[in-house]
Amino acid sequence: MRKKITKAVFPVAGLGTRFLPATKASPKEMLPIVDKPLIQYAVEEAVAAGATELIFIIGRNKRSIPDHFDMSFELEATLQAGKKFEVLKQIQNILPKNVSCIYIRQAEALGLGHAVLLAKSVVGDDPFSVILADDLIDAEKPAMQQMVELFGLQGASILGVEDVDPSETASYGIVDAKEVSPNVLELHGIVEKPQPDEAPSNLAVVGRYILTPEIFECLENVKPGKGGEIQLTDGIAALMEKQRILAYRFDGKRYDCGSKLGYVKANVEFSMKHDEIGEEFSQYLRDLIK
Ligand code: UTP
Repeated sequence: MRKKITKAVFPVAGLGTRFLPATKASPKEMLPIVDKPLIQYAVEEAVAAGATELIFIIGRNKRSIPDHFDMSFELEATLQAGKKFEVLKQIQNILPKNVSCIYIRQAEALGLGHAVLLAKSVVGDDPFSVILADDLIDAEKPAMQQMVELFGLQGASILGVEDVDPSETASYGIVDAKEVSPNVLELHGIVEKPQPDEAPSNLAVVGRYILTPEIFECLENVKPGKGGEIQLTDGIAALMEKQRILAYRFDGKRYDCGSKLGYVKANVEFSMKHDEIGEEFSQYLRDLIK
């Protein structure tokens, strides 16, 4: 029987240079969209897709993420004493009881491929998902759930992809892929951050992956690539030589929250839909542009 995807890897050890100084003392994945940090949206997406073991690859400024998912006795006691039951429930329910967290330290930011390789000893021989929390995806059915369902049918590694403007290819891993059924493509090539005139398409890999465990052996043999980093893209290119890999054009709207503009757009749109402030904020925007 096909193995279930129960392990999710969250690489959160990047330097976040595009977001300095906000990311000087705190990882960018702790930046909030309205009232929840990016990493919590990512974790909720993984849990909705069936993950029960969450593996965080953490870097410098390492404390805030474990602290966020840990129990906070002092805060809970204070909220309890102040009868602030609604917020108390919110912070107690950040993670369901059947979900456990593992933290692995990436001592140096040697690249996304290196970060994923660090999960090898915990992931072992199982297929697993990777979520980059700075790619926030708003979707009716969470993007990773869509991909896990496809994995259930196909049993192959899957890359979440999206059409980008042809002028933007140098910011992404770009795939050369052939559509085999609606929104499902078979991968024939992948290039990290090509200039538009060298890009095989305008289909970009965004921060959602399902990978088979054979990726680890491929990553072990990857030499530093673009920017001197161990690139996940190079590991995937090597895996493609051994196994069929799919690209999946997921259904949903992605916000590049690793960039200032994408982050602000996400905050505006999530604020407009927010239970507590949505109506008032939308009215505020209407008045502002009058
Ligand atoms: P990015 O390419 O966005 O790099 O990483 P970055 O360092 O976080 O941000 P900038 O470009 O300097 O502004 C993509 C993802 O891979 C993780 C990041 O945390 C992010 O989720 N990553 C990257 C690591 O965990 N380790 C690394 O060595 C590199």
